[in-house]
Amino acid sequence: MFIAVEGIDGSGKSTTIAELEKFLTARGHAVHRTAEPTKLDTGRAIRELLGQKNERPYTRHELALLFAADRLRHLEEEVEPALAAGKTVLTDRYLFSSLAYQSVDLPYEWVAGLNRFARLPDTVLYIEVSVDTALSRLARFRQGTEIFETRAFLEKLRANYEKVFKKYTGKVNIVRLDGEVAMSDIAADIEKRLSGIFPKKV
Ligand code: ADP
Ligand code: TYD
Repeated sequence: MFIAVEGIDGSGKSTTIAELEKFLTARGHAVHRTAEPTKLDTGRAIRELLGQKNERPYTRHELALLFAADRLRHLEEEVEPALAAGKTVLTDRYLFSSLAYQSVDLPYEWVAGLNRFARLPDTVLYIEVSVDTALSRLARFRQGTEIFETRAFLEKLRANYEKVFKKYTGKVNIVRLDGEVAMSDIAADIEKRLSGIFPKKV
């Protein structure tokens, strides 16, 4: 089973994924946890470009191509072999991140075209938070902000995720998680929302 977790910056993805991994493991899944951008060459290059210290210029087209390249290698070298070995793959961001983020300032069809060879996940878990909540978490917990962390950008991003989910309704199982719950309640919320969707493996 291939599960992708999505959400805007500051939605609490990392925190939620740690709980998801525990939840799935307890239900008998052999979990392979991974993330995009990856730790492979292209993923590292992307993190460097997006980092605070980067002074090298790059275009939005280059960035979109790099995300797509990183994704195809991620699939070939890591995701597909893990799925073939019977693992449940849990990825922090995937295809829908490119469709939502890169289409803020590039044509959607162009971005979708670049990603046409990336297979769909079985389930997308979308962590839903307000832009206010995301911004206040980012301001509280992070030194400085990345290019993707302004209010205007996060608003557009949220709207883009909704547009993308509309397009994919019926093709992918899209499950929403409430990103506003207190940290101490995340595990219980996952249990409540996902027990029916991921039954115990025997
Ligand atoms: P993301 O991976 O989506 O950027 P993180 O999980 O790193 O988000 O969360 C960003 C910050 O917000 C972290 O420092 C985390 O401690 C805090 N945080 C995450 N989830 C919650 C929550 N439900 N309530 C309050 N703070 C949270
Ligand atoms: P990451 O370092 O994982 O940040 P976060 O902890 O917020 O998920 O990802 C770096 C940024 O890259 C993040 O702001 C989302 C963005 N991104 C895209 O724009 N397109 C993509 O296809 C992916 C995978 C990530």
